[in-house]
Amino acid sequence: MSVFLQGMKKIAILASGNGSNAENLIKFFKNSDCAQVSYVICNKKEAGIYDRCKNLNIPCHYFTNQSFDTGEVQKFMINEKTDLIVLAGFLHLIPKAMVQHFQGKMVNIHPSLLPAFGGKGMYGMKVHQAVIASGATESGITIHLVNENFDEGEILFRAHVSIEAGDDAVKLQSNIAKLEMQYYPEIVEKLCRQLS
Ligand code: GRF
Repeated sequence: MSVFLQGMKKIAILASGNGSNAENLIKFFKNSDCAQVSYVICNKKEAGIYDRCKNLNIPCHYFTNQSFDTGEVQKFMINEKTDLIVLAGFLHLIPKAMVQHFQGKMVNIHPSLLPAFGGKGMYGMKVHQAVIASGATESGITIHLVNENFDEGEILFRAHVSIEAGDDAVKLQSNIAKLEMQYYPEIVEKLCRQLS
């Protein structure tokens, strides 16, 4: 059980899978004077994120997609006094009411240079395969606010990576993961400092 210090913002992470970004964020915010990760929510029963949270001593709650759509998750987050929601590999569209309630306080990371290679169905290796197939010479990450459409909210930050001849989707994914680990926590912290 985490102890929350006065004035610290409470972060909720939403994840659907492996959870490497979630783990990186949780570790980063253990040493932050601005915010702490309060809990994680996952919408898949089998996901790597549960073990990671157990090891990091952070609660990880399972909620169905339907409970997002009915507003149950939003109620839970309000009860928990959640200040900031961080999506880290979360694959369900956030309902409009939740977007409106947490306007400017919900952030996502996407493993391409949006608006390219984003939108419904573009996640994980599918993104990197499409980038390689397009012959692009660079890709990157985009950190953006969440709105009611997949990958379309206001862009807060992008970082680029070159694609060298012979790079495949696996290599690109690994290069992109390095950028994600480097930048996502610090951009989230910056957003956190801007919250009133
Ligand atoms: C990351 O590439 C992230 O950019 C995207 O989904 C992936 C999640 O990976 N939104 P992980 O679950 O954090 O390992």
